[in-house]
Amino acid sequence: MGSVPRDEPSGVSLSRVAETDQRPPGREVLHMLAPQASDCNTCVVYGDDVGQSLLDQVEDAERELRAAAEADRAGGPDGSDADLQRYFDEVIAADQKIEPRDWIPEAYRKGLVRQIAQHAHSEIIGMQPEGNWISRAPSLKRKAILLAKVQDEAGHGLYLYAAAETLGVAREELVQMLLDGRQKYSSIFNYPTLTWADIGAIGWLVDGAAIVNQVPLCRCSYGPYARAMIRICKEESFHQRQGFEILYTLANGTGAQRRMAQDAVDRWWYPSLAMFGPPDTASTHSEQSMAWKIKRFSNDDLRQRFVDMCVQQASVLGLAIPDPDLRWNAERGSYDFTDPDYDELFRVIKGNGPCNRQRMAYRHRAYDDGAWVREAAAAHAAKRRAEAA
Ligand code: 3HC
Repeated sequence: MGSVPRDEPSGVSLSRVAETDQRPPGREVLHMLAPQASDCNTCVVYGDDVGQSLLDQVEDAERELRAAAEADRAGGPDGSDADLQRYFDEVIAADQKIEPRDWIPEAYRKGLVRQIAQHAHSEIIGMQPEGNWISRAPSLKRKAILLAKVQDEAGHGLYLYAAAETLGVAREELVQMLLDGRQKYSSIFNYPTLTWADIGAIGWLVDGAAIVNQVPLCRCSYGPYARAMIRICKEESFHQRQGFEILYTLANGTGAQRRMAQDAVDRWWYPSLAMFGPPDTASTHSEQSMAWKIKRFSNDDLRQRFVDMCVQQASVLGLAIPDPDLRWNAERGSYDFTDPDYDELFRVIKGNGPCNRQRMAYRHRAYDDGAWVREAAAAHAAKRRAEAA
């Protein structure tokens, strides 16, 4: 990936501490959690180790998708505008899937392109903060795992660009919209990765938040997006485990390692909560998006679900969530917690986070450096077409 961007703002020193791998390896750690499964939300994430899981929900969604593909869709539209709309509404109401062959309202198309493209851009920009540590991973094993993970993110970007293309927009156009700032990417990737523990915190918290947000998208009404999400969620679940295991190792290591792990959790907690978007009262798209069954839950509902999941996982890690007001609310059956700073979220979204400029400068450079690859691929395709003609 060429020269690795250095994430640390000037003046901040990198504290990199070699890991001690004297504790049980990850798999054993996760199996040790199994007896707690009945009252520990960890099972919701590490499902195939300890029971009912987010992965089970992904598999349910996959079955639903197959059933929808096989379902009889008799009673199609007669071609009139009113009937096209009626048919679209009926497909959504029946929890069937809209496919690229179907007529869709322009606003549904635009909304999906916006969300899917933003999601795709997030996967691609999201390679940077973690790519920052590939050359400095503390062992060959850690380096190989991180390489695979960062490569997965590129793959997720590709599935998502492909899903967006089924809506009649070219990938090149979407990439241009990212480069010239007309489309966004997730706020979370504008924060720096200062220590190796940040790779653990990203896996545990950022990928954890991504999973909580994205599993319901496996049931999105637009077939190509839902299908892309099935595969992405299966891979994300591995990402989250690797982050949890890095933090577990550090949290049970030396005092310096433990402090490094806690410091990373302290810095990534609130930005991870902000990933879910503005509060419902300030969310511009949620209502329509939920009516179209693109989103299945509101930003606040998913944020709450994430907090409830993390509290018990943090106790297994032995790390503190940096929120003095975090406490169980028996009446609501959920944890009360402090909201992230939404003013900060909006500042970051507008381009004024700690690493926005660095992230975009790197993306521009990568795009320019890759020009010869695109030209060579286009020349090769043109030659093939000429030979076939
Ligand atoms: N970062 C940047 N922009 C955000 C944001 C965030 N965390 N949260 C909201 N926004 C933007 C919205 O895009 C919208 O701006 P726009 O109208 O200019 O497009 C505005 O803030 C208002 O927010 P809404 O709540 O109305 O927006 P949505 O209904 O689209 O909800 C969302 C936001 C929950 C992020 C939703 O779009 C979504 O679920 N997207 C798909 C998942 C996704 O993109 N995740 C990004 C992370 S990917 C990832 O984490 C990779 C993994 O490997 C770690």
